[in-house]
Amino acid sequence: MMHNTQTNAVPSMIDNSIPHHQEFLRDVLHGLSQPQKTLPCKYFYDERGSQLFEAICSTPEYYITRTEIDILKRYMADIAAIVGSHCDILEFGSGAGIKIRLLLDGLTDPRSYIPIDISMEILEASARELAQQFPSVQVIPIVGDYHKDIQLPDAFRRQTPQRKLVFFPGSTISNFTRPEAQTFLQRIRRLLTEGDGLLIGVDCIKDTEILNAAYNDAAGVTAAFNLNLLHRIKNTFSTNLKPQHFFHHAYFNAREARIEMHLVSKLDQIVEVEKTRFSLRKGETIHTENSYKYALPVFASMAQQAGFTTGKVWQDPGQLFSLHYLTAH
Ligand code: AVJ
Repeated sequence: MMHNTQTNAVPSMIDNSIPHHQEFLRDVLHGLSQPQKTLPCKYFYDERGSQLFEAICSTPEYYITRTEIDILKRYMADIAAIVGSHCDILEFGSGAGIKIRLLLDGLTDPRSYIPIDISMEILEASARELAQQFPSVQVIPIVGDYHKDIQLPDAFRRQTPQRKLVFFPGSTISNFTRPEAQTFLQRIRRLLTEGDGLLIGVDCIKDTEILNAAYNDAAGVTAAFNLNLLHRIKNTFSTNLKPQHFFHHAYFNAREARIEMHLVSKLDQIVEVEKTRFSLRKGETIHTENSYKYALPVFASMAQQAGFTTGKVWQDPGQLFSLHYLTAH
């Protein structure tokens, strides 16, 4: 379900921005009932979590954000030439806005920008600023969860002579398993017409030391980000949960080509959430996030199977990160 904040442009629909309390509780109880306890990483991003994520992006160890920005700057002329003029840009997760500013600046006469995000507040603030900074671009924010089925307002489903460009930076696709990522790409494909484009940032497989450092920064920001999930649960539900009874653990699982983040129990304990009890042994973990890393040909063949042709791949000189331009076929 989507809610267009410009109610004059599209009939208003149900606002899906706040993850429902019931759904959050269901996900927590379900995750903690598994043999390998888990919690969904989408719940990291409350207000404090979003701040901590922004802080992660500027730690010296976390290369992803600055490397992608460098790639966008370095190759913008090339990107603009391939994307072409007057396109409608859709972005999933509107983020801090540095990258979209580079794109709106660098592309030739982009026609519209349609950010899709689960937070109405973030959307409205960033949409206002962008509309001011880029008066020739129509900014049309949409509240929605891209983990669910994405439905666009009619105006963007219509076949237009303008090319649609989906922008999905930051390697957010890394949170999906391979089959989920494949399905997600197929869903994006269905929003597009033949010849439309997808510009997507994908983190690469690299030296284990570099990967492990990026998710274990010395200042402990990533640890605080991981532990904040427990604070959020503690602040939301009736529970005896003590975040200080857990510590952050992240490592590269080479066999699965993914970073795994866990919260490790410091002691044998019983955690009770809204009257449901879970026991944890000392050393037992709650698996909170996967971040999949891709070799270029592996990602390319996944995209191919989802209905895209690999157009062009840009990388930084150190080959830490990749930016793919894919064409719908
Ligand atoms: C937003 C999924 C790209 O996996 O690098 C950063 C999230 N977690 N540090 C990532 C994250 C811990 C990030 N993504």
